[in-house]
Amino acid sequence: MSQINYDELSFDDEDELKFPRPTTQGFDDVVEKAISRRGFLGGALAFGSGAAVMGTGLLSGTSAQAQQTSRFAFTQLAPQTDGTVHVPEGYTWDILARWGDPLFSDAPAFDQATGIPTEGSDRVFGENTDGMELFLVGDKELLVVNSEYVNGGINLPAEQEGKPVSTDDVIRLQNFQGVTVMEVAETDAGWDVVVDSPYNRRIHHRTPMQIDGPAAGHDLMKTSADPTGATSLGTFNNCGSGRTPWGTYLTCEENFNGYFGTTEELSLEETTAAGFARYGVNTDVDAGRYNYHGFDARFDLSKEPNEPHRAGYIVEIDPADPTSTPVKRTALGRFKHENAASVVAPDGRVVVYMGDDERGEYMYKWVSRHVYTPGGDTSTLLTEGQLYVAKFNDDMTGTWIALTPEDTGMSEAEIAIFTRIAATQVSATTMDRPEWIAVNPTAIEAYCCLTNNSRRGATNDDGSLRTNAAGEPMTTNAPNPRELNKYGQILRWRPHNGDHAAATFEWDLYVMAGNPDVYSDGLYAGTANINAGNMFNSPDGMVIDSTGLIWIQTDGDDDNEGDFLGMGNNQMLAGDPVTGEIRRFLTGPNGSEVTGLTWSADRRTMFVGIQHPAAPFPDGEGTLPRSSIVTVKRADNALVG
Ligand code: FEO
Ligand code: CA
Ligand code: CA
Repeated sequence: MSQINYDELSFDDEDELKFPRPTTQGFDDVVEKAISRRGFLGGALAFGSGAAVMGTGLLSGTSAQAQQTSRFAFTQLAPQTDGTVHVPEGYTWDILARWGDPLFSDAPAFDQATGIPTEGSDRVFGENTDGMELFLVGDKELLVVNSEYVNGGINLPAEQEGKPVSTDDVIRLQNFQGVTVMEVAETDAGWDVVVDSPYNRRIHHRTPMQIDGPAAGHDLMKTSADPTGATSLGTFNNCGSGRTPWGTYLTCEENFNGYFGTTEELSLEETTAAGFARYGVNTDVDAGRYNYHGFDARFDLSKEPNEPHRAGYIVEIDPADPTSTPVKRTALGRFKHENAASVVAPDGRVVVYMGDDERGEYMYKWVSRHVYTPGGDTSTLLTEGQLYVAKFNDDMTGTWIALTPEDTGMSEAEIAIFTRIAATQVSATTMDRPEWIAVNPTAIEAYCCLTNNSRRGATNDDGSLRTNAAGEPMTTNAPNPRELNKYGQILRWRPHNGDHAAATFEWDLYVMAGNPDVYSDGLYAGTANINAGNMFNSPDGMVIDSTGLIWIQTDGDDDNEGDFLGMGNNQMLAGDPVTGEIRRFLTGPNGSEVTGLTWSADRRTMFVGIQHPAAPFPDGEGTLPRSSIVTVKRADNALVG
């Protein structure tokens, strides 16, 4: 069809050719609407809402808020590019736990050349630390931590190039992932894991789980080992975290699809085939990221085509009871769950916000049917209720659309298992990879990191628009206003009537990351609260502390070159939700992602996760790089955040 030589076109030129702005609902219209609504969030809007819809004129200039007194109790850290952690002057950091550190005194010793052997690999702190929460149980502080995935090249013998070559290898990798529950305690020498605490526990890829909710018992959930469809083994790719008001931990199964493969050509039922395509489950013979299926038949789709339907959920764990069985809460939907941010609505119902981290996927919300009463029965609160998906309007309002059998044409069980397909049926808004959502405890609002989306507005080789996995073209939309979005943005919304259970909300963008040194104007310089001193890309982890400060963690390009020049290593910044000011607080070692954040019970210590460093962190030259949790304190032992 086209005679265009794409090699001679810049991306911008190509965009002009391929994406003429629509004339009826165009760019300028959207900006006009946003400007006319600019007052709804009060002072905060000077930073946010104009930028939300790309009004470049609104991005420049100085905000009156910049003159306000800063709330930050630290001086901004400069960007860093080295192999260690940095914190501002007046703060200190230390290591709490590295991958392979013992949880029990019978754990194998860590070998700096080979790591941890298979025997005893479930007795140590897991790999690739991610979401975490601290629970005070009696006078014990229990840290519950996700171990998202593995680094095969480090976790297995070097000559295997990261791939398991035996059942033994698969078991080793399975043991390093999942969730760790561990007691931690502070002494004069600092924080340590309490080895052999009765609370210590590893939950991994073979730990028995209960399946709860609409999907439980459905034919699509049954396997040869579980004809009931109501029990399974393992929780997978545990990314972000959450906590319930009743003191349980929520672990969020994200890129579960990567664990499955097939040893034979597949002939699948139509619904299963559609589900595999929608969720990215690989169906090519003997391909696959982890090669579990070569040694563990449970992961071989030619033998167990329903096994992937049993992953991709929010899983509830009771850290106070080491004998408890984790529960997969299928009512909260199946997708690539990032985290789970819960809040109690004014009438007592429990609301859980969740993102689906893939290009062009959606944001979700759960609302319980019954109310939460402290000390009361909580057994139905993540089982009975309604799941919604977000639809954003260009006028900066939005709606939570209920995923019901009537509106999706799917049964309750099918909605729970193929939630993405249900959400597409009701025309949810495609997002730039929803990562962590955080609820502000000091204001009735919530935030979501939309980390990046290099494919939004991009074209395929044949010139067609890139789509999400549903085949929906990823054109720009109001909350995701940038094509080839390499920097990411943080979305904010305020529910109608101050009620997180409400069906409607108003939204803006708290920040669009960018590089004002490289781009003098326009979308890619970022919003007015981005400057040469605080640049970052790809916001991912996010927690709002009890004082209302937003802690933003990044998982982006850290080569510090080109479009990313001046950003340095991945980092953690603090944001003021009122003034919009953002300041860099911590930097990770090169190659690492900073992810996972929680506080000690007295809030004098911050626990921060450092995932997959490239540098030999934390023990230096000649040692294996190890994902680690670091503690951060103020030198004067005052509250941190
Ligand atoms: Fe595991 Fe989307 O981060
Ligand atoms: Ca993440
Ligand atoms: Ca990420």
